[in-house]
Amino acid sequence: MAAPENRDIIRIGDRNFVPYIGRDKIHAAVCRVAARISADLAGTNPLFVCVLNGAFVFAADLFREISIGGEITFVRMKSYDGTQSTGRVREIHGLDEDIAGRTVVIVEDIVDTGYTVRHLREQLLAKGPQEVRVAALLFKPEALKCEVTVDYAALEIPNRFIVGYGLDYNEQGRQLKDIYVVKE
Ligand code: IMP
Ligand code: MG
Repeated sequence: MAAPENRDIIRIGDRNFVPYIGRDKIHAAVCRVAARISADLAGTNPLFVCVLNGAFVFAADLFREISIGGEITFVRMKSYDGTQSTGRVREIHGLDEDIAGRTVVIVEDIVDTGYTVRHLREQLLAKGPQEVRVAALLFKPEALKCEVTVDYAALEIPNRFIVGYGLDYNEQGRQLKDIYVVKE
């Protein structure tokens, strides 16, 4: 019989992962952040900018918990290769909307080095919005390599590599309903 601690191990590519944050805890954190955003941005018809690919699950859940209306759109950026940030942020698909005078909320799955959010925020600010805020499901403060403000961080975690709930390891694992952490 497998040892109890081995029961929940999942294998993705060449790595093992173990359960880390369950779906109930994720849901509660998403609802808390949605309530804060709804209270802060009431009356602004905010535009949520979901950063593909990783944030699509979080954005879908967050957006449905926002109680003040608003719109959603998508950009696509890439900076990760395997379990490492490359330090370069590539834009694969940019923003089509006119955001002049608008309240914009960047919706990210995770802020790690911070390069993606910094890059996108600067790009958006150049288009003359009223303001740009940042909402992230996860924030790894220890991994930060540049100055960024995460206005709404649902959960803070140490500097470890995770998958699930939209986050991938080499494009695998995004559809996991819970978040798993790599087993060292
Ligand atoms: P940053 O630019 O280093 O802040 O990283 C941003 C992007 O890297 C995120 O949007 C994720 O797509 C990816 N990323 C960072 N940490 C992880 C992780 O632990 N697991 C999976 N993807 C991650
Ligand atoms: Mg991402």
